[in-house]
Amino acid sequence: MIIQLEHIEKTYGTGANKVPVLHDVNMQVEAGEYIAIMGPSGSGKSTLMNILGYLDVPSGGVYRFDGEDNAKAGDARMARIRNEKIGFVFQSFHLMQRRRAWENVALPLMYGNVRRSERKRRAEEALKQVGLEDRMSFYPNQLSGGQCQRVAIARAICTRPRLLLADEPTGALDSKAGQQIMDIFDELHSQGMTIVMITHEHAVADRAPRRLYIYDGYLREEAGQ
Ligand SMILES: Nc1ncnc2c1ncn2[C@@H]1O[C@H](COP(=O)(O)OP(=O)(O)OP(=O)(O)O)[C@@H](O)[C@H]1O
Ligand SMILES: [Mg+2]
Repeated sequence: MIIQLEHIEKTYGTGANKVPVLHDVNMQVEAGEYIAIMGPSGSGKSTLMNILGYLDVPSGGVYRFDGEDNAKAGDARMARIRNEKIGFVFQSFHLMQRRRAWENVALPLMYGNVRRSERKRRAEEALKQVGLEDRMSFYPNQLSGGQCQRVAIARAICTRPRLLLADEPTGALDSKAGQQIMDIFDELHSQGMTIVMITHEHAVADRAPRRLYIYDGYLREEAGQ
């Protein structure tokens, strides 16, 4: 089991400003699974993803990731888990405009004491995996949206993470570019990557073998599964 959420609660704010968002969320994901999480705007999808990715902590419940209960992990440890074990893909790519594609991809390796030549080699390998071997030295503003997202995926996988988290990875793309992203996810899944993807789009969610729904902060397995 790579992800185990037990009775997770999340409430933002304090006192009169309290906003309860997640309620008794339970979820288990095996290593190598590919799941999609769907739900309306404001239902708590990104909140859940932030907890899964150690960008935020739950207000209650237990989160075990990769065999460890990290409930008491401090900021530094959370950052290390994030950097070593989790790859992120966001709707808006989050690329550095003044760095070349391969430099963007190599960025997470800067924190890991990897030599420059090795960083470049691994970035190129990751860019090949997403079909961008001919765009290694391009800057983001010389790439299409779909290509930018593929650079972001290469950046997410170049550290060889245990988990790939994607929040609306096709949300900013047209359907053809979105299909290409989904093809890459299929390929990563077939290579054994664990993927948790958040999406509004049924056509995108349908590409994942397992689907979960979140509604008003309550998480449910797709009916019939
Ligand atoms: N930092 C915060 N402080 C207070 N409330 C917050 C905070 N972040 C999110 N919320 C609230 O939590 C709820 C869930 O937000 P979240 O971003 O998880 O939704 P979402 O399902 O990802 O929506 P979308 O599909 O629009 O991205 C919303 O009502 C939002 O206002
Ligand atoms: Mg969101």
